[in-house]
Amino acid sequence: MSADLLKAARDAMSKAYAPYSGFPVGAAGRAEDGRIVTGCNVENASYGVGLCAECGMISELVATGGGRLVEFACVDRTGELTVPCGRCRQLLWEHGGPELSVHMPRGEMTLGEIMVDGFGPTNLEVGDIQ
Ligand code: THU
Repeated sequence: MSADLLKAARDAMSKAYAPYSGFPVGAAGRAEDGRIVTGCNVENASYGVGLCAECGMISELVATGGGRLVEFACVDRTGELTVPCGRCRQLLWEHGGPELSVHMPRGEMTLGEIMVDGFGPTNLEVGDIQ
């Protein structure tokens, strides 16, 4: 995988706020225009409202102009690749779709391969609901 994306994910991981799980995560994505967006997990004393690293990354993507994600990676505290959780795969689906390239620990896969038949914007096109 590209060194710049991995470095960005590792840098983001170093900023994580994960005092409760002790599991810092860094996420990095490349947008179609080439820019890299990142995020880290941000936990909370009210455990359930903690934010995954991908949440911050998607927020940066949208806040800096949007566009489609074409490549994604996330790392754990060792700096090695880890897998995005189920909820975050849904976030990725919205902005990258099934063709998004995801760097998984066992190799590069498409989002469509790790989330078969994902629910997305097109599923909302069910005709006139009135
Ligand atoms: N976490 C992420 O940030 N992204 C994922 O895709 C998996 C899990 C975080 C949430 C929590 O802060 C910690 O990892 C342990 O679950």
